[in-house]
Amino acid sequence: MVKKLIIANWKMAPATLASARELFTKTKRVAQNLNRITTVICPPFVFLGVFSKSARTQRCRLGAQDIFWKSDNARTGEISPEQLKSMGVSSVIVGHSERRALGEDDEVVNRKVLSCMRNRLRVILCIGESNRDSEGAYLRFIETQIEKSLAKVSRPMLSNLVIAYEPIWAVGSYAKRADTPDELFEMVIFIKKVLSDRFGKKHALGIPVLYGGSVNERNAASFLKHGGADGLLIGRASLDPKQFSNILKTVEHS
Ligand code: PGA
Repeated sequence: MVKKLIIANWKMAPATLASARELFTKTKRVAQNLNRITTVICPPFVFLGVFSKSARTQRCRLGAQDIFWKSDNARTGEISPEQLKSMGVSSVIVGHSERRALGEDDEVVNRKVLSCMRNRLRVILCIGESNRDSEGAYLRFIETQIEKSLAKVSRPMLSNLVIAYEPIWAVGSYAKRADTPDELFEMVIFIKKVLSDRFGKKHALGIPVLYGGSVNERNAASFLKHGGADGLLIGRASLDPKQFSNILKTVEHS
């Protein structure tokens, strides 16, 4: 059985340690009882140490929202791969659109990807276009993003790679709508084709492709069932323990 991967991206929330503890406890309580899902909770860096010991189970794991690619000391404000590993982090979100909006380009994303892989951290590589044009230029954009972000990545490194397709127009509170499962299905096929051209079919088909962007308890299951996604990357809904638990349960039983 291939487990579905559900990533909870808490972004810059919640505001206090007490709320973070409460959210974590409620999420883990549900996640650890589900055997068809691996849940990865990605809190802000400041809370990682608090959950370091409690999220090392197979079903509920700890992730980070970013990483720095070097391990030398003079990097004010950055977090190294070794530091993340020592906190029990096993996955890292790389290239999220909210980081790209702050100036992170494909070259920086590539450095982070390589750094994770060399340190045996699972990379959740985010890709996605900001709008969909009728001529299909967005497909070329996605292809370039994948190629540049995965420069110098070799086949043996692929076991640590997960792609999260997050169309920017569907992400966050400004989004008007989520993607549709039908459109997602076409995109998943396209992404797998690009990966096949780069790494060969056999290797490419083993790379999980997740969907993220306005996922909620009503649409979650359909992205997996009809959209062809291997999992979900969830922002806002992961901050609502009731809704997030409903998503986990729906996916477990669908
Ligand atoms: P959202 O965010 O679920 O709030 O749209 C998804 C993400 O940014 O990963």
